[in-house]
Parts: sequence; C-alpha cells; structure tokens
Amino acid sequence: MYTGIEMLNTKTKLFAILGYPVKHSFSPQMQNKWFKKENLNCIYLAFEPKPEDLKRAVESLKLLGFQGVNITIPHKIEVMKYVDFTDKAVKKIGSINTIAFKGGKLYGYNTDHLGFSQDLTAKKISLKNKNVLVIGSGGGARAILYALKESEAKNIYIANRTLKNAEQLAEIFKIRAIDIKKVGEVLPSADLLVNTSACGMKKTDVLPFKADKIKSSLIIYDLIYNKATPFTKLAENKGLKIFTGVGMLIRQGACGFKIWTGKYPDIEIAERLLREFIG
Ligand SMILES: NC(=O)c1ccc[n+]([C@@H]2O[C@H](COP(=O)([O-])OP(=O)(O)OC[C@H]3O[C@@H](n4cnc5c(N)ncnc54)[C@H](OP(=O)(O)O)[C@@H]3O)[C@@H](O)[C@H]2O)c1
Repeated sequence: MYTGIEMLNTKTKLFAILGYPVKHSFSPQMQNKWFKKENLNCIYLAFEPKPEDLKRAVESLKLLGFQGVNITIPHKIEVMKYVDFTDKAVKKIGSINTIAFKGGKLYGYNTDHLGFSQDLTAKKISLKNKNVLVIGSGGGARAILYALKESEAKNIYIANRTLKNAEQLAEIFKIRAIDIKKVGEVLPSADLLVNTSACGMKKTDVLPFKADKIKSSLIIYDLIYNKATPFTKLAENKGLKIFTGVGMLIRQGACGFKIWTGKYPDIEIAERLLREFIG
C-alpha cells in the first residue's frame, strides 16, 4: 500500500517540473496526488534553473535517471534544442511542455492543445460549424489554434493587441487575423471566444475591444484560471456561459501523466486540489 514519502526507495521513479520561477506551480501537488492514487512508486519535484542553465539542468535529469519532466515558462521554446524527438504538435506549436526519457533519448510533447480539446469535450462543447474568435498571440494561442484546426470549427479568427503577432499566427495556421479595434466585425457571429492573452493578469487590465453585439449563446473560455478578468466580467454582465483554464491546466497534466505511466489519472481529485490551491 502506498504511504507517500515513506515508500521512497531506490526503485522510486523520478519526475519534475522545470520553470523559472516555478514556486507558483500547481503541478507537484497534482502529479504527486495522482501517483499516490494510482499506487505508483514515483515522486514529482520542482526545479528552478535559470535560462542559461537549462541545457545543463536537462542533461542532469537525464544523467540521474529521471523518467519525465514538465517544462514551463520561460523554458518551453528553448528546450526544443535539447530533445531527440518531437511529435507533430510540437513542430507546429513551437514549444514543449512535457518530456519523456526513454532508452537514453528525450521525447518532447506539447499536451496543452490536448488539455484544451479534452476539456471542451468534457464540457460537451461541440465546435462543428461554429465560429471561434481567439484573443492573444503568444504560446497559449498557438496550442489553442492547433486544437481548433483539428476540430470541426467553421471559421477561426485571431485578434491581438499587437496585430503583427496575430498576423504571424494567422499565416502559420491559415486563419484570418483581425485588428483588435475591428473585433466588432466578427464578434456578433462568434460562438466561442477564447482568451489566450494575459489580459486580466493585472488588475488594471481592461477588455481590449468593444463588445456591443454578441450572441446570447456565446461561450467564453478564458485560459486564465486564478483570477477574475475583463472576460469573466463580460460574461457576468451579459449573462454568458464562461469556463476558466482550470480544466485545460489539469487535463494537459493528465496527458503528461498518461505519457509517463500509461494511465489516465483521476480528474476530479485534481479539480478538488486546485480549488484548495487557488483558495
Ligand atoms: N490554463 C492553462 O492551462 C494555460 C495554458 C497556457 C497559458 N495560460 C495562460 O494564458 C495567458 C497567456 O499565456 P502565454 O503563454 O500565451 O503568454 P505569452 O506568450 O507571453 O503571450 C501573451 C499574449 O497576451 C497579450 N497580452 C498581454 N497583456 C495584455 C493586455 N493587457 N491586454 C491585451 N493583450 C495582452 C500579448 O499581446 P502582445 O503580442 O501584444 O504582446 C500576447 O499575445 C497567461 O495568463 C497564462 O497563464 C493558461
């Protein structure tokens, strides 16, 4: 029977997250809870290598026999240089959030897009013939666009504070970029609005467009999961359905757990834990 830390021995399999900073990360609690639930002799730790030390950190984990590692900000792009293999999603999204060490080789994955699409499925949101508007053009947006392109969405639009960043992603994913000031042109037909931008991380942030005409059935999905944002306020004011990035966060971790252990973990346990974590 697994009893947590007392079980640790020479056979314990090692996992970790690398970020800088990493103190805010929920992953250690979540992954360790899952290891315990599945009765696996595994432990998940957190390390904070500086960007200039990332290569040595990854080599050290390999040397010490780690089995898997999550990668978070700011290492997700840089780490691509240090893996041996990547999947199709990593090539298109351009970043890695999960690595598996197998037979002396490093396999890089990006599970953010799976976290998003699996969460939509869990919430019974179908994108068949739907119009989707994505706000933001950073790393999160790339994962969301990858998932949307794999879905049956009819039209996908992207708008961003800096238009040229949206245009760059529009080119890669073959979708239409919209000037954020002209979002009103597509917003009335949107069925799903996904906020992938950091708008809302600061208390002073405001909605970067006018939202006069919108469908009453519009669903908002805000990747930010730990605070009220201008998007949550918009949903509240207009009586719209809104989901935060909690489900995506948990499910991207669940996909990593599956890659490492072959088992898909208990999502509800992680949801309860995250509620306590956010407070
Ligand atoms: N739930 C999850 O699993 C999950 C996963 C990934 C990300 N996220 C969250 O998503 C957010 C973005 O992450 P990221 O990795 O994509 O970040 P990123 O690569 O730094 O990109 C940030 C994006 O937000 C835009 N932006 C920043 N501040 C803004 C503001 N005040 N108003 C309007 N736009 C603003 C930026 O626009 P410019 O191009 O003009 O700079 C850029 O497009 C973060 O809050 C992150 O925590 C959540």
